[in-house]
Amino acid sequence: MHLAPRLNRMPPYFFARVAERIRAVEAQGHRVINLGIGSPDLPPPDFIIEAMIAAAREPASHRYPSYTGSPELREAIAGYYARRFGVALDPNREVLPLIGSKEGLAHVLMALVGDGDLVLVPDPGYPTYRMGTYLADGVFETVPLRPELGFLPDLDAIPEETYRRAVAFWVNYPNNPTGATAPREFYARLVDLAHRYNFVVLSDNPYADITFDGYRAPSFLETPGAKEVGVEFNSLSKTYNMAGWRVGMAVGNAEVIAALLRVKSNVDTGIFYPLQAGAIAALTGPQEWLAERNDIYRRRRDVVVEGLRAAGFQADPPKASLYVWARIPEGWTSEALSTHVLETAHIWLTPGIAFGEHGEGYVRVALTTDAETLARAMERVAQVLS
Ligand SMILES: Cc1ncc(COP(=O)(O)O)c(C=O)c1O
Repeated sequence: MHLAPRLNRMPPYFFARVAERIRAVEAQGHRVINLGIGSPDLPPPDFIIEAMIAAAREPASHRYPSYTGSPELREAIAGYYARRFGVALDPNREVLPLIGSKEGLAHVLMALVGDGDLVLVPDPGYPTYRMGTYLADGVFETVPLRPELGFLPDLDAIPEETYRRAVAFWVNYPNNPTGATAPREFYARLVDLAHRYNFVVLSDNPYADITFDGYRAPSFLETPGAKEVGVEFNSLSKTYNMAGWRVGMAVGNAEVIAALLRVKSNVDTGIFYPLQAGAIAALTGPQEWLAERNDIYRRRRDVVVEGLRAAGFQADPPKASLYVWARIPEGWTSEALSTHVLETAHIWLTPGIAFGEHGEGYVRVALTTDAETLARAMERVAQVLS
């Protein structure tokens, strides 16, 4: 069969391959504790589920939904950005609901990137920034995130020529996989560069509401001038424990939003209305439960950091995100260590190399498992590495 040449540049999605490896260990009769993927294990509260069920009973809910999402959902998203970040958005021009933010990350590149256009992506970073660039027949250059700079890109180290060639620059704070956060000055500098060199800032912000110890994550759009140069992607997946619902959003620059809608309206037909009704309930309903939920993640974070340190890793507690990013003991590659821990302790830790070459030397541990299981898992990791 003829397959598109671009597939040669695109490996199967890493986490899909991991599922096969875990199944193989389970087929040998072991129960694997999967600390790989950041899929929230706790459900959303009942009021969200009830809103979805009520909408599912409405006959009109089963028609094709609108390409732009319902006006109520767009208003609920604008209301969330106003309340949470103090960012004013026009719900008709600056807000686009997505079928989970991941599709938007890939589709926006089809709207912005042409043959050979350059996209700057963080390394380590979420794989879709790179693969979406390939799907759009663009090229990417990686921008290293190093611990010395708090896993922020060194904006001064990027050559002027690279800035000139770039059509888009991805940033993701709170960061997956490192758990790093970005200060407001970083965004101010980036917006300034985007104005000067005429690239689009693509801010991926799905962890803004998973924060600990009093930290409050900003939106890139809070920066003066940001809306002129960029958009932000956000998601209900992590914030509201709704990963399986597939509801996300792109917000910000109206021209980019319109371009993304042009691509999407030719590819998909919007979000099932009952899911939109649940999303509206999540965004407009009580928010107090998020603090309690974050406290559960914080306790898990502390268990993991302590357990990893006892097992010989170096790890700092992150202020945000669903992950602990830990430097592995000397003498291992991240892939060899993950494989060893999977085969002997039956625990899956994501090797840092899965996020790019600058992820080597680290593993990522997701906090989406209860604290007791995490404690047990950390003990088993320590045993097989001692
Ligand atoms: C950095 C980052 N961006 C985007 C996503 C996609 O989220 P969703 O498609 O569920 O909205 C994830 C999910 O893990 C992520 O970690």
